[in-house]
Amino acid sequence: MSESTTPAAGARIVLKDVTKTYPGQVIPAVESFSMDIAPGELIMFVGPSGCGKTTTMKMINRIIEPSSGSITIDGEDVLSLNPNELRRRIGYVIQQIGLFPHMTIAENISVVPKLLGWDKKRTRDRVEELLAVVELDPKTFASRYPRQLSGGQQQRVGVARALAADPPVMLMDEPFGATDPITREKLQSEFLRLQEKLSKTIVFVTHDFDEAVRLGDRIAVLSERSQIEQFDTPANILANPANDYVSQFVGHGAALKRLGLIPVGHAALGPAGGQTAMTIGVDDSLRDALDALVLSGGLPVSVLDRNGSSVGTIDIERISAVLGAEILPPALAGGVRP
Ligand SMILES: Nc1ncnc2c1ncn2[C@@H]1O[C@H](COP(=O)(O)OP(=O)(O)OP(=O)(O)O)[C@@H](O)[C@H]1O
Ligand SMILES: [Mg+2]
Repeated sequence: MSESTTPAAGARIVLKDVTKTYPGQVIPAVESFSMDIAPGELIMFVGPSGCGKTTTMKMINRIIEPSSGSITIDGEDVLSLNPNELRRRIGYVIQQIGLFPHMTIAENISVVPKLLGWDKKRTRDRVEELLAVVELDPKTFASRYPRQLSGGQQQRVGVARALAADPPVMLMDEPFGATDPITREKLQSEFLRLQEKLSKTIVFVTHDFDEAVRLGDRIAVLSERSQIEQFDTPANILANPANDYVSQFVGHGAALKRLGLIPVGHAALGPAGGQTAMTIGVDDSLRDALDALVLSGGLPVSVLDRNGSSVGTIDIERISAVLGAEILPPALAGGVRP
């Protein structure tokens, strides 16, 4: 991701005043959409159904032609590129997976390499490599048909197919939408691990704000006509929602969501030793620390470094302090409390 030390392999995407009015409609589906996406950035689009997320995304790879405005990838006008070239540069995971039912998994993943005229061996090797990347054993899965896979496995094939020609840009339209919460969580962490290695420029659509917080470098909260209500890092949006619309999207538990983004090591820890009931690692999140505190009945939790040595303790006040909350210890709150 943008903060990682690996060189960014992605491309810069710039949209300027992009508008799409579908034929026969008066109100545009997307109106004057502008965004500058840095190479290697993972951008999340969140917004309600019908607000224009898919339309905005499909204009980037020209499945839909903009009515006006410009889109460039690394400075090149998307409209001037030939479609094959564009497909090589942009991997696309469509909404609802969209594997071809009559093709095997291997054939599904080979669609773009075939379009690009790769020979059989190169294509076969790539399919095996990609299936391994998404943790599906090629021997088991390559010759199966999509209906013989679970929903989560199909979504992984969708991701593998989009990665086939190693594109610098990936467009992913609710790629994990069809999975249960546990599979989704697993796919998300696999995806983050993968992106750390690949550093692609990714536009990722989701309905799920928590998914946006977990995955995104920046989140665009969109309303009708793909209007950008706020475009910022997850931490900034959670701390300072721009307006009521964004607050509504953030939903309940904004403080907990923020804690989920912050490692325990960021808190000012109390001295090691004393009475503690539970332990937590410095790299775990403050949300996990809070969980441990609740389970320990409020006793401070001992914080361990990567070697398992205690480096301090954490309690509720120290967690609140990270969020800038001024919570007075009960002893000082005096008459305020019953
Ligand atoms: N081919 C089309 N012709 C006319 N109108 C369309 C077409 N495709 C989409 N629309 C309209 O454009 C608007 C935006 O649709 P879009 O698919 O971009 O929304 P979305 O944000 O992706 O929604 P969802 O979250 O449900 O996938 C909607 O009002 C939709 O009805
Ligand atoms: Mg959509």
